[in-house]
Amino acid sequence: MHRIAVFASGTGSNFEAIATACQRGEIDAQVVLMVCDKPQAEVVAKAERLGIESFVFSPKDYASKADFETEIVSLLDKAQVELICLAGYMRIVGDTLLSAYEGRIINIHPSLLPAFAGARAVEQALEYGVKVFGITIHWVDHTLDGGKIIAQRAFEYYGDSAEEIHRIGQQIEHKMYVETIKKILK
Ligand code: GAR
Repeated sequence: MHRIAVFASGTGSNFEAIATACQRGEIDAQVVLMVCDKPQAEVVAKAERLGIESFVFSPKDYASKADFETEIVSLLDKAQVELICLAGYMRIVGDTLLSAYEGRIINIHPSLLPAFAGARAVEQALEYGVKVFGITIHWVDHTLDGGKIIAQRAFEYYGDSAEEIHRIGQQIEHKMYVETIKKILK
């Protein structure tokens, strides 16, 4: 059985989709660690409910990104993590984590990259006026949302509600992330 870590900063719906797919045996893996940089985030309670060990921290308690990433790397090493899945982790991965785990970190992003990288991707796309939205899963490297693409899904949308696009996108994300992790681990 493979060992994965999920990093999140918010609601954690992707974390939950991945963790429950593992618990149901749909993915031949166990989420051995959830990492969260926001102590108040909903994902923290979700991890607790699912019985998944978590490392929750406040970046302001550390002198630098290298400091908290050093701690994260030692936890990942100890838990023998093979794959890191960023799922709404709203922080740029720094050199410390990247040099230790490059080639083993993937991210899900709510746009058809390379369009609309960075924060507020859905809002950016809506403001631009596109009618085809989508989701991308990619390898994480030192660029912002610029690593090699693994999978993409697109959908048409002609309305003007960012909330609705998020809702449609997230339904796609949950299935797509599970399917992609399964393929990578094979
Ligand atoms: C997801 O929709 C993910 O695509 C997005 O954050 C959301 C987290 O939702 N990620 C980014 O915008 C990364 N730039 P969740 O906490 O419910 O999984």
